[in-house]
Amino acid sequence: MLELSSNVAALQPSATMAIATRAKELIAEGRDIVDLCVGEPDFPTPEFISEAGIQAIRDGKTRYTPAAGIPQLRAAIAADLKRLSARGADVDPHGIVVSAGAKQALFNVIFSLFSAGDRVLVPVPYWTTYPELVQLARAEPVFVQGSPERSFKVTVEDLERAAAGGRVKGLMLNSPSNPSGAVYSLEELEEIARWAAERHVWLVSDEIYRRIYFGGTVAPGILDLPAELLERAVLIDGASKAFAMTGWRLGFSYTSRELASKLTALQSQTTSNATTPTQWAALAAYKQTEVADAEVERMRQAFEQRKNTLVQLFREQLPDVPFVEPEGAFYFWVGTKGLAREGEGSMALCERLLAEAGLALVPGSAFGDDDFFRISYAYPEQTLRDAVQRLAASVR
Ligand SMILES: Cc1ncc(COP(=O)(O)O)c(C=O)c1O
Repeated sequence: MLELSSNVAALQPSATMAIATRAKELIAEGRDIVDLCVGEPDFPTPEFISEAGIQAIRDGKTRYTPAAGIPQLRAAIAADLKRLSARGADVDPHGIVVSAGAKQALFNVIFSLFSAGDRVLVPVPYWTTYPELVQLARAEPVFVQGSPERSFKVTVEDLERAAAGGRVKGLMLNSPSNPSGAVYSLEELEEIARWAAERHVWLVSDEIYRRIYFGGTVAPGILDLPAELLERAVLIDGASKAFAMTGWRLGFSYTSRELASKLTALQSQTTSNATTPTQWAALAAYKQTEVADAEVERMRQAFEQRKNTLVQLFREQLPDVPFVEPEGAFYFWVGTKGLAREGEGSMALCERLLAEAGLALVPGSAFGDDDFFRISYAYPEQTLRDAVQRLAASVR
């Protein structure tokens, strides 16, 4: 038997992968499958970004960079964060650490801040990676339930209740949310940040979907808040979703210089730096803001249109099925009620829908709520129409 270290003994593979993998196998067998599992924009990377990456390779920008990223990119990200901040927050480029995707930035942060004996609040439904990373750091995820009336967003009261069991060191916040599409208002964000600051709880704010927002162009984020609330805060963001660059692997964290230097040290001993041509491509995305904004807006509008289509189709064809009306990201969080059979959990429901209706969806159990499942609407409208028809037919 393979004698694994206790570091990874309990580690689970990404839970969103299981059904997605099965769907791909069925597609390869020639089955007619509508696969709505994938969490990435279906648009190509904007050409001016790709060109910058290609040019970097041609120019021989193919060597190591400083672990925290090329200074030009850190400066461009800092300027862009300031530009998008409602209060024009000053952003220190030395607080930015560029990583191979937001996922690596999250790993760096969680591994550096939390360890054995620490409790970290994780609102439900959560992005499936948070509890795994917290546990990898040997800390304990403490799940916080928000109410369905508030699209499962948590309040200070919910946090207070969850924290009652002992000292809490961190809070993972994700707005716009994967999987619910819920977005915290500026006021809600401020209340939570104030609570965290008063209790000396580290606030890790994952804002990777910030630019896919339907209440305006940029969802509220922690850099819109007063600076005194952010002494123990880390912003996580990246190029993957906003600029359709998932495969390039470019994310970053922004926090105090002191913590950033530890994150840099950790990264310098694991992966060194984000891929060099990718950093140059991302420099174009963060620096050429006018072109970039136009591309981001084109994609944002497409996601909003698809969201509207889905909401309308559900209201017409599946009126008894509850869902959270998304305010951002590209996910639709749907209740199993009215679809699942007696005693059927979200995994069993999704397995049945795949087998009987040729529809691949991610079970809510992957996000901590077995009464829901997730539809990604990063797909053309016709695919979404086909999917809702299949769902409605499965009920009939
Ligand atoms: C909430 C959330 N955070 C972070 C990530 C990771 O992004 P990246 O591809 O930049 O690692 C994802 C990707 O699905 C996500 O949904």
